[in-house]
Amino acid sequence: MKVLGISGSPRKDGNTESLVRECLNEFVERGWTVSEFFLSENTIKPCIGCEICVESGCCAITDDDAARLSDELESCDALIIGSPVYQRNVTAQLKAVFDRTFAHKKRGLIAGKPGGAITVGRGEGGGQSMVLSVIYNYLLSCGGLPVPGELNGLSARADKPGDVLLQGNRLKQARVLAQNVIEYAEKLKR
Ligand SMILES: Cc1cc2nc3c(=O)[nH]c(=O)nc-3n(C[C@H](O)[C@H](O)[C@H](O)COP(=O)(O)O)c2cc1C
Repeated sequence: MKVLGISGSPRKDGNTESLVRECLNEFVERGWTVSEFFLSENTIKPCIGCEICVESGCCAITDDDAARLSDELESCDALIIGSPVYQRNVTAQLKAVFDRTFAHKKRGLIAGKPGGAITVGRGEGGGQSMVLSVIYNYLLSCGGLPVPGELNGLSARADKPGDVLLQGNRLKQARVLAQNVIEYAEKLKR
């Protein structure tokens, strides 16, 4: 089985990528295939609202990494989506992913697939709960199955890149989120 890990941070090796990777490591140890789609190294342009996709099911924008993203979404059995808190919301990069997958609505690439959410902000109550809600709402809007972590998704407080790697409890919670998603996905497969 295959999991797709999406990180919405533009910052390579930042806290979000660290937690998404920790989560994906649990999948690897359980024999899953893992794929990363990190927005620090992939470009998804914002939706331009032409709605060509409504009829054709294809997006008019082709000069970015959206084709690879749709292949990854189609072939995965589960998703982990992470974003830093930016202005108490997901990053613009992740929102572009959400909007651009509107083009695949008819194909239901995410429908019936379990997914978990991860967020990191520098503040205490800095908007992490909003980000988790936005990600889980996205999954719901695509017919995906939002899976909780130890709490409601994984919420961390960290700022400088690597800060979160010093927080053993958050790393443990990343593993718990993975374990819950694996349990859902494997039950669905049976
Ligand atoms: C443009 C911008 C907006 C931010 N807004 C918030 C915010 O609203 N709340 C918060 O707690 N942290 C905010 N932060 C801090 C980041 O969430 C924090 O540094 C996080 O660790 C970055 O994750 P990354 O290392 O994965 O990039 C903001 C950072 C930037 C660059």
